[in-house]
Amino acid sequence: MISQNTIQQILGRIDIIDVVGGFVKLKKRGTNYLGLCPFHNERTPSFTVSPSKEIYKCFGCGKSGNTISFLMEHEKYSYVDSLRWLANRYGIEIEENFATDEQRQQMQVADSLYIINNFAQQFFSKTLFETEDGRNIGLSYLKERGFREDIIKKFQLGYNPEARDSFTKAAIAAQYNTELLLKTGLVANRNDQLMDNYRGRIIFPVHNHSGKVLGFGARILKTNDKAPKYINTPENEIYVKSKILYGSYFARIAIDKADECLLVEGYTDVISLHQSGIENVVASGGTSLTIDQLRLIRKYTNNLTIVYDGDAAGIKAALRGLDLALEEGLNVKLVLIPDKEDPDSYVNKVGASAFNEFVRSNRKDFILFQLEVALKDAGSDSTKKSEVVNSIAETISKINKAEDFTKQQDYIKQCSEILKIDEGGLHALVNKFIRNKISTQEKALPFEEARSHEENAQKAAATDYDDATFNLLFKDELQEKEFARVLLEHGNKKWNTGLVAEFMLDEILDEGLFDNADVLKLISEYKKALEKERTILNKNLFVYSDDPAISSFAVSLLNFPYEASEHWKREFSSSTGYQKKLFEQSYEDFIRSVTVGNENELMTFLKMDEDKTHIEIESALNYLKLKKIKRMLLENQVDLEKNHTHEEYRTLTQTHEHLKQMEREISGKLGAVIIK
Ligand code: CTP
Ligand code: MN
Repeated sequence: MISQNTIQQILGRIDIIDVVGGFVKLKKRGTNYLGLCPFHNERTPSFTVSPSKEIYKCFGCGKSGNTISFLMEHEKYSYVDSLRWLANRYGIEIEENFATDEQRQQMQVADSLYIINNFAQQFFSKTLFETEDGRNIGLSYLKERGFREDIIKKFQLGYNPEARDSFTKAAIAAQYNTELLLKTGLVANRNDQLMDNYRGRIIFPVHNHSGKVLGFGARILKTNDKAPKYINTPENEIYVKSKILYGSYFARIAIDKADECLLVEGYTDVISLHQSGIENVVASGGTSLTIDQLRLIRKYTNNLTIVYDGDAAGIKAALRGLDLALEEGLNVKLVLIPDKEDPDSYVNKVGASAFNEFVRSNRKDFILFQLEVALKDAGSDSTKKSEVVNSIAETISKINKAEDFTKQQDYIKQCSEILKIDEGGLHALVNKFIRNKISTQEKALPFEEARSHEENAQKAAATDYDDATFNLLFKDELQEKEFARVLLEHGNKKWNTGLVAEFMLDEILDEGLFDNADVLKLISEYKKALEKERTILNKNLFVYSDDPAISSFAVSLLNFPYEASEHWKREFSSSTGYQKKLFEQSYEDFIRSVTVGNENELMTFLKMDEDKTHIEIESALNYLKLKKIKRMLLENQVDLEKNHTHEEYRTLTQTHEHLKQMEREISGKLGAVIIK
């Protein structure tokens, strides 16, 4: 397992903008950064990253977290794997205790699959370049096809020898678990014998968009009618075909730059285009595009150009489901490669600039293309023709109107001309589909939820994200959380011979003041951590806690604004909203702690620090003091209502007066802070 020392080093180096920015296109907005949320589908950016707080928050869907939880969520890494990824990125050497066999087996399946795939990729590449068979059979085949060595290495191509179990043997020797090996699809079980599944095949590793190997495509070398041309990794914990775009890892920067993504069918198309210098290209594996793949593309660009060979099977597959692309707001164009060529062979034949030129001058609008194909199919059959009208109206209805209103109008005009029908009629038909869609959507999604997502997104888009706004948008309005936040934010700062945290925790000896379970847990963890190690104590300790409950709470706290306590103030001033609780502390003790306290000492310290720190600590503590006073007033009130001797009664009323006086003082201070 990774050593504590390494973890501290990693945490010290994390730059959330750098990490998240590697996956999401971010733009600076005020002190924060804004982009399209990678966790839900949106057109208006509401995904916000705060570099100072080291957290992200989506104001559309509400997802939030730190750099590590981002990697866990987005890349499906485990906590440990996220640390490894970061260590690798920042060139930090990982100090660790080697896993025992037992531990190895206990590793999460997904982690293990990545590890095995990585091992396999290296094995296959080594075999390709360093063994006789690899060079004579695999490498010579690839070179014959025109692939250069640098491109073979870049895409990490490999070779699995003919021999029945060369990979299997190596994997077993490296102590990989059989069950997992079978899961990767690299190894097959034939009559209780383990053997290589991709024998005698060229190996194409399939990377996720951050470069980890998810699985493989294995291409046969000999022409053999019985065996399939490609064998692909079976679906498993990490290889989910519907979410994979081959080449996305190598293409994303180029897609971003070109603001266009080319989509081809196969592995070799991607690689050849890369080799010729056309890098904004990914492959779908010859099947129709899924919504997840479209969203992956849309993270980088709105312009999708499908480049397929002219054979009908491929096009039909590509067109299926492309209505989804319209709903996603993508502009889809289609280019067909002529003369039985595919992008791979065509770019090899004509070169990059002619290829680019061909794409530029031959791309057809996807909707119009679809219409032409359907019309040709329908011929003079009038029933079929009316089906075509219906289906094109449905397709047009899927264009997102809010964003692309004129686009929709244009299509209605153009299509009615091609169909030789009345424009108004087509318009009405399109509207009918829109109405149908809206009513089914309303059933599917709670209206309120949808509306609040949209409103949040708009608010987020309209706001210049200074930290205060960032906070206010997500206030949770509990003074207890505010206390915990201040503790996290400033706890590790020095105060006299100790720390602010020690002072704060001393001040609230009475934990009965806290009702929130998360806050209580955090306070108790904080105390434990303080006892153990005072020097390394910082907010990261909690933000990056391996207990996800603490980590997510800490993250949510760092969103929490100290200005947000207006609500609480209101709650507090009406005693009805307040639950009576018994005191654990005597009046005398309490009054001493409130009136004498360490206030002067605190002020001296705080003045040396930045102004906000001082205000925040003071106000967090004052809230708690006020809470305590309110509680005492209530108690006193209850007492007053009982029968008393004259003497008792006088003491009680004096106490009441005294408490009231303190309440006014503290409220006054708080008011000054809150209203500012
Ligand atoms: N494919 C597959 N299984 C098959 C055939 C094809 O998964 N049996 C997928 C592969 O992703 C392949 C793509 O469909 O890359 C396109 O198929 P094809 O055009 O036949 O393969 P190419 O990649 O063009 O391979 P080559 O150029 O070597 O013929
Ligand atoms: Mn091909």
